[in-house]
Amino acid sequence: MKAWEVQPGAAALDDLKLVTRDDPAPGPGQVLVRVRATSINARDQAIVAGRYRMGALTRPTIILSDGAGEVVSVGEGAGRFAIGERVAGCFVQGWVDGAYRPEYRGRAMGVPLDGTLAEMMVLDENGLVPIPDYLSYQEAATLPCAAVTAWNALYRSAPLIAGQWVLLIGTGGVSIIALQLAKAAGAPVIILSSSDAKLEWAADLGADETINYKTTPDWVEPVRAASGGGVHHVVEVGGGTLPQSIAALALGGQIHQIGFVAGREVPFNAPAFVGNFARLNSVLVGSRASFEDMLRAMTAAQIKPVVDKSFAFDDAHGAFEYQKSPALFGKVVITV
Ligand SMILES: NC(=O)c1ccc[n+]([C@@H]2O[C@H](COP(=O)([O-])OP(=O)(O)OC[C@H]3O[C@@H](n4cnc5c(N)ncnc54)[C@H](OP(=O)(O)O)[C@@H]3O)[C@@H](O)[C@H]2O)c1
Repeated sequence: MKAWEVQPGAAALDDLKLVTRDDPAPGPGQVLVRVRATSINARDQAIVAGRYRMGALTRPTIILSDGAGEVVSVGEGAGRFAIGERVAGCFVQGWVDGAYRPEYRGRAMGVPLDGTLAEMMVLDENGLVPIPDYLSYQEAATLPCAAVTAWNALYRSAPLIAGQWVLLIGTGGVSIIALQLAKAAGAPVIILSSSDAKLEWAADLGADETINYKTTPDWVEPVRAASGGGVHHVVEVGGGTLPQSIAALALGGQIHQIGFVAGREVPFNAPAFVGNFARLNSVLVGSRASFEDMLRAMTAAQIKPVVDKSFAFDDAHGAFEYQKSPALFGKVVITV
């Protein structure tokens, strides 16, 4: 089969190579999936650039954590899926339910485990979910990392209640599906972006208030004013935006700390945090049960993830270039 591998010592996109590997076969309890579509996350850019926090790779590894496809064969004793069933892989293999545990470290798809950007993949049958009929492979492939993360931000610690205000930072993969999930739950949303055009698209998806963080870098007061005194949830993909997010909270509001697109080192204003009775919640994607809960909610609301652009398998480099460009809105997909 053909696959895209990131090489040990990778430091740039040229280190992502198209290779041929032996076709995999499912062992006991495993499932062979013909991959139909995959998607790129910010994490994959960091892996290819040699900046991912797990450090340098020790072996060539198939890139990307997210993918969807159809079951083509199953190994001995594997009974969860039938041949031909449409499935998506879970980001953390083996995390079926409950809280994150130490043994799940090292079980993430697309580093350190082989990922999805290949014609075929073999996974334990417990590391897959069935995908709903109304979603295409491309749409389903956007979900395992960004969407499950957004779902856990909004529902894992203190579930979002209709009418609570949600603040979203930027218009990347996590933020746009968070917008769709929050609106489906009856929550008003404020979204920030560097681009007025993207803010218009976000408004088309239901965003109630939009703020350009380039032209309005001091967005705390506009957010507090728009939300009538502060937001209840922040899906914090910025990192560097944490001080402003804390200041934008309503009393008792929650920050769901997810990512670092606006910087990793941030001053922590402890008095402001305590004064707002704020709560800080870490999110690391989520379990298979979270993925399944989210798919039920998405199906009920018929939420279609936003696929910004789909690239051909041979043009993985083009897809990576586009995903980190200012044009990005939502998710970039590679059709296999
Ligand atoms: N903890 C976890 O489990 C988990 C899971 C998924 C992602 N993450 C992390 O979450 C972050 C977002 O991931 P993603 O996949 O959604 O990324 P992405 O799709 O690459 O989105 C990037 C977007 O971030 C916005 N942005 C960039 N710099 C910004 C700044 N200074 N201030 C505000 N917004 C800014 C931009 O939005 P505009 O173009 O609209 O300005 C950009 O399009 C990444 O750090 C990623 O590693 C963590």
